[in-house]
Amino acid sequence: MKFFIDTANIEEIREANALGILAGVTTNPSLVAKENISFHDRLKEITAEVSGSVSAEVISEDAEGMLKEADELAAIAPNITIKVPMTLEGLKAVKQLSAKNIKTNVTLIFSANQALLAARAGATYVSPFLGRLDDIGHDGMALVAQIAEIFNIHQIDTEIIAASVRHPLHVTDAALNGAHIATVPLNVLKSLVKHPLTDQGIEKFMADWNNQK
Ligand code: E4P
Repeated sequence: MKFFIDTANIEEIREANALGILAGVTTNPSLVAKENISFHDRLKEITAEVSGSVSAEVISEDAEGMLKEADELAAIAPNITIKVPMTLEGLKAVKQLSAKNIKTNVTLIFSANQALLAARAGATYVSPFLGRLDDIGHDGMALVAQIAEIFNIHQIDTEIIAASVRHPLHVTDAALNGAHIATVPLNVLKSLVKHPLTDQGIEKFMADWNNQK
């Protein structure tokens, strides 16, 4: 399983990229709205920093509008992936973008059927939202497992991005359940590094080193 970072903040992206594990970036309108910069300018900065997939979400609700936005976004850099909401209009847009070899990430996936439809429309990625399902008492990870099994049975090569990831256990379980990618906020990414025995071990090594005769 690969790691994407889920943010539109360029400093966070640079910090994650310096770790050497970053395979891509996902943004969404809420994340972009927190930043005080034009979306296109930020995408230029991000794509200059990260060579992997950078998901940029359209905000139109009709396929025609989505396609117009997608053309403008895709022109920013070759590694832009167009993020499209899981709607009937979104599916139409995905089909046409896929015919033009433009990569797509179908977002706001909350059921296996939605993931299957998106894949059949030609999506490069589907993004099941784990945390938001957990929030309403559903099992987000069971959805990832179902999608992975269906894609495996039917030899579908659309990749699964575990999204709405809130804590380290989501990351481990997403990997075990067949997600190809987890898109993770910086605080969760950094928390994956931490282990109390690692910290204690370093402290002990340093103490022994400094006390040597
Ligand atoms: C994924 O692409 C989304 O941007 C994101 O993971 C949503 O997460 P949230 O539920 O924490 O907003």
